[in-house]
Amino acid sequence: MSQHNHSKRSLSIEVEKLLNEQIVLEGKSSASYLSMASWCETEGYANASNFLYAHSDEERGHMLKIFSYINEAGGHALQPEITNIKHKFSSLREVFEDVLEHEIHVTKSIHEIVDHCLSNKDFSTFSYLQWFVTEQREEESLARRILEIFDIIGEDGVGLWTIDQEIGKISAAQAAAAGAEA
Ligand code: FEO
Repeated sequence: MSQHNHSKRSLSIEVEKLLNEQIVLEGKSSASYLSMASWCETEGYANASNFLYAHSDEERGHMLKIFSYINEAGGHALQPEITNIKHKFSSLREVFEDVLEHEIHVTKSIHEIVDHCLSNKDFSTFSYLQWFVTEQREEESLARRILEIFDIIGEDGVGLWTIDQEIGKISAAQAAAAGAEA
């Protein structure tokens, strides 16, 4: 029995489509970070691995937030097909370069939806997406901070071990901040 009453929807078809595309991106983020976490674990980067496992969970959380929003607004959130996941990396630095590149891409996508919502007077979705705007700024900044650690410490000798330790400290601070918010 379908109780889905599209005549009562507050979401436009276009915004629903854009949000479903964003679901694909968040799902891809979650899957990509899971793959990175696994690679780091096999390479012995325990802290980077833990950081990325947690980050993968966070991205799934972002995806689910959009599921709820679409469905509550009378649309239909769609479980995305996730393909083309990278499994191998040439270095730990490459992993975090990929994270930053991906987050920049996600930010652009969020901004495009926000822009569309404002131009089309969908103030509800516009307001809802502000959380994502802030989140993306924080996530990009975090990825940049981690890449700076590579530059500061250097990757020779015990450098990579030290970098992994530093990522562990950032990860612990993130978990503490998330716990304080909960
Ligand atoms: Fe939810 Fe970092 O994209």
